[in-house]
Amino acid sequence: MVEESVPYALRMVNIEKYFGPVHALSNINLEVGRNEIVGLIGDNGAGKSTLVKILTGVYRPTSGELYIAGRKVDWNTYNVQRAHEYGIETVYQDKSLGEKQALWRNFFIGRQITRRFGFINVKEEKRIAQEVMLNTIGFRGKGITVDSTVSKLSGGERQGVAIGRAMYFEAELIVLDEPTVALSLKEVRKVINFVHRIKEGGKACIYISHAIQDVYEVADRFVVLDRGEIVGDLRKENVSLKDVDEFLLSYAHGLKDRRE
Ligand SMILES: Nc1ncnc2c1ncn2[C@@H]1O[C@H](COP(=O)(O)OP(=O)(O)OP(=O)(O)O)[C@@H](O)[C@H]1O
Ligand SMILES: [Mg+2]
Repeated sequence: MVEESVPYALRMVNIEKYFGPVHALSNINLEVGRNEIVGLIGDNGAGKSTLVKILTGVYRPTSGELYIAGRKVDWNTYNVQRAHEYGIETVYQDKSLGEKQALWRNFFIGRQITRRFGFINVKEEKRIAQEVMLNTIGFRGKGITVDSTVSKLSGGERQGVAIGRAMYFEAELIVLDEPTVALSLKEVRKVINFVHRIKEGGKACIYISHAIQDVYEVADRFVVLDRGEIVGDLRKENVSLKDVDEFLLSYAHGLKDRRE
């Protein structure tokens, strides 16, 4: 399945995306290592979500190539389902979890464990959901069990379920687009801890957020997008949080505007 010799979880080559006349992405060349957390940052409308939607099979690029763990993606057949099969998982910022479902059921959504004759193996699914929630994600929410309905979970806990699911199904790369929007500080902390778990679990992650402090904590590298182009690629060991902040600000204020 996965070619172990390939050092990259992901490689994008000359990706371009137009929405009609809008040039949303221009000449994107991006690699994400097998166990690397990349913070994708940039102003509103920079193209961050468009980039990850191409990656996760939601949009097709106008041109360019995508390699996942060394395998070239065929755009004619690539879609969300195929992205899953390739080991790309995403946690959407909107409520992607079924509200009225029990947690364990939600955990196995679309991937039921079945016995002979196709009956769902409820006991086994609950056992696994419980195990992942406790050990992989370190879920210790008071009064929350695998039987709790999703609507009872806090925003941070929902992110945790989705990340736990992605890790259990051995995602190579987990994409998080603004996972902490509308969360309390305490909940944000949980999500950040989940991302640390992704790193410890040996997997890769693209983390998108406007909260630069959070991105700085979790990421190994920062890729900066500005109006559809990659304008910066900074390794954490070479830059302070202040450096990253100032780099972003210089674009936000148009100081590096090529049209000036
Ligand atoms: N479905 C679409 N149809 C037309 N234009 C789009 C579509 N999706 C995005 N765009 C445009 O592409 C550009 C990039 O948008 P995108 O949503 O990728 O930005 P972003 O970096 O995720 O911004 P934010 O930080 O606000 O989430 C914007 O100019 C946006 O208006
Ligand atoms: Mg976005």
